[in-house]
Amino acid sequence: MSFASKVVLVTGASSGIGAITAESFCKEGANVVIVGRNEDKLKDVAKKCAGVGNAPFLVKADVSNDNDARRIISETLKKFGKLDVLVNNAGVAEYGSILDGKLLESFDKIIPINLRAVVHMTMLAAPHLVKTKGNIVNVSSIAGQKHIFVASNVYSVSKAAVDHFTRGSALELASKGVRVNAISPGPVETDMMTSFATESEKETQGIRTPLGRMSKAEEIADLILYVASDKAKGITGSVFVADNGIMVQ
Ligand SMILES: NC(=O)c1ccc[n+]([C@@H]2O[C@H](COP(=O)([O-])OP(=O)(O)OC[C@H]3O[C@@H](n4cnc5c(N)ncnc54)[C@H](OP(=O)(O)O)[C@@H]3O)[C@@H](O)[C@H]2O)c1
Repeated sequence: MSFASKVVLVTGASSGIGAITAESFCKEGANVVIVGRNEDKLKDVAKKCAGVGNAPFLVKADVSNDNDARRIISETLKKFGKLDVLVNNAGVAEYGSILDGKLLESFDKIIPINLRAVVHMTMLAAPHLVKTKGNIVNVSSIAGQKHIFVASNVYSVSKAAVDHFTRGSALELASKGVRVNAISPGPVETDMMTSFATESEKETQGIRTPLGRMSKAEEIADLILYVASDKAKGITGSVFVADNGIMVQ
């Protein structure tokens, strides 16, 4: 799966799934743009990427800020002249339920990042992806298909919307040769999962999966690279589940 000469933009690349995905694309020869708000963490990721491939281009930015979003795309084009793959991975989890009174607060924190920014980045990137016949991979979650914790209602809603936006975008962009797909992980060992696990223990005594394991970020990165590659040239509008069997319970 060579990505030599491809330009790949990964949002939320300063940790977890995004960081490993960036590293994997670098390993496969891509020119990678890494985006996040924490510059120190981005620099650490860049060092690891440079150890296995081309040094990535860092853009310190908040995807939910409209000016930053525009700058992410313009700086990418200024640096590399084109865009082949957009990975909309940046995301946050914030707890809030109807009865604890924090539902709206969690909505206002989650939706701008997990949903609105995905919509905005897609809109900004699409004209450039049309030129390269590129593709988009959205990092969703099985929470978009199944409510797992009461306190993550809005997070689940954001991911359900990402799934449907993925299908709608795939439909619109197919005639231009641009594919759009989503990956829906179950629990993955990252910083986000650590906080999820702590919160979920209050509800479920921890997270259990039929396979008795959690995914590592590398497994999700492998799937992202496959879907972004020419091997998946006939796949668009799909949502791929990688959840150690949770959805079949
Ligand atoms: N871990 C899981 O079990 C799991 C399961 C299903 C789906 N997911 C999804 O996978 C994606 C990655 O999560 P993760 O598990 O790797 O969590 P993570 O380690 O907390 O990483 C989240 C990334 O998103 C970035 N980010 C958050 N808000 C941002 C913003 N406004 N602008 C730019 N970057 C932002 C963070 O960087 P900065 O803080 O530097 O901005 C960080 O790089 C998310 O969309 C998440 O919903 C995770």
